[in-house]
Amino acid sequence: MADSISKNRRVLSGMRPTGKLHLGHFVGALANWVKLQQEYDCFFFVADWHALTTDYADPSNVKQSSVDIVLDWLAVGLDPKKATIFIQSHVPQHAELHLLFSMVTPLGWLERVPSYKEVRENLADRDLNTYGFLGYPLLQSADILIYQAGYVPVGQDQVAHVELTREVARRFNGFYPKKPGGEVFPEPQPLLTKSPKLPGTDGRKMSKSYGNTIMLTDAEPVVRQKLKTMVTDPARVRRTDPGNPDVCPVGDLHKIFSSAETIAKVDAGCRSAGIGCIECKGWAADALVQILAPMQERRKQYENDPKLAWDILEAGSQKARTAAEATMVEARAAMNMSLEYEAPKKDQGA
Ligand code: TRP
Ligand code: SF4
Repeated sequence: MADSISKNRRVLSGMRPTGKLHLGHFVGALANWVKLQQEYDCFFFVADWHALTTDYADPSNVKQSSVDIVLDWLAVGLDPKKATIFIQSHVPQHAELHLLFSMVTPLGWLERVPSYKEVRENLADRDLNTYGFLGYPLLQSADILIYQAGYVPVGQDQVAHVELTREVARRFNGFYPKKPGGEVFPEPQPLLTKSPKLPGTDGRKMSKSYGNTIMLTDAEPVVRQKLKTMVTDPARVRRTDPGNPDVCPVGDLHKIFSSAETIAKVDAGCRSAGIGCIECKGWAADALVQILAPMQERRKQYENDPKLAWDILEAGSQKARTAAEATMVEARAAMNMSLEYEAPKKDQGA
């Protein structure tokens, strides 16, 4: 019993190494990871093999991007003393489990994953007619199940992948019951990160591809400059026009980052034209600078000693390998394929 409780308290999540992170990543995922590490046995990893599913033609940046993303994680406050932070390709058991899952997974399950069609259409310039691209949600299933994780914090776009993972777990458990009894793979639950929508400087969702981001590394003058050009309530043309913070992207920023006091001041001042947008944006910039300053302070030690982040990844990967191998011992045994010597069975019939 204690065993199943401790297993269900395990959390796993990963990110592709796509480059430096922005405030949208913080609000949408990392702020939640930082909270989870206080309460759960968390495994957070850089999904570098996943990057290859779309970037296989030129993997030259994958390794550096992986270290860069970990620097961002450490900067926001992920703590290697609390969470296991590692890199997927340093834990080969993910690949072994992916291979075993590939034997039992019907093609149709992969073909009907919604992201399969979507991403292929969005990245039409690349040849994604590959085995690896079709199979990447199954690699994700292996990522999750190899740690027998109970919870997977993800955004809405990843829920279908966790659902596939549950089906794969059920199918494996059905074919190969655990020895002496029970199931090797618990079915994980998605932990939907309920994040408020974070607008970028142009009012659309903050995203690298729109060029509207505020980076976690942006220095104070950069943040203030970006806020100055941020779009506002379009109905508020002149200083004397009243506005509506509920339809203003700057108003959204206040709701996410500012104190209740400031939010009230913005609401009253905007609606009565008592404050100007420049002043209001200055307050929003204050709030952002306050969030970013400790991140940038923490980052310094890792920038001064570039090997530090690598060493953290290595130590985490060692811990991850131990946990992953423990699951593989169970999975291989369930399939009668343990690595141990077994004496030949006597033929009972003869
Ligand atoms: N596919 C996820 C993404 O694109 C990243 C990922 C890979 C992941 N393996 C995972 C997330 C396991 C959660 C659990 O964002
Ligand atoms: Fe937006 Fe603030 Fe201007 Fe109101 S005062 S429109 S909330 S920037």
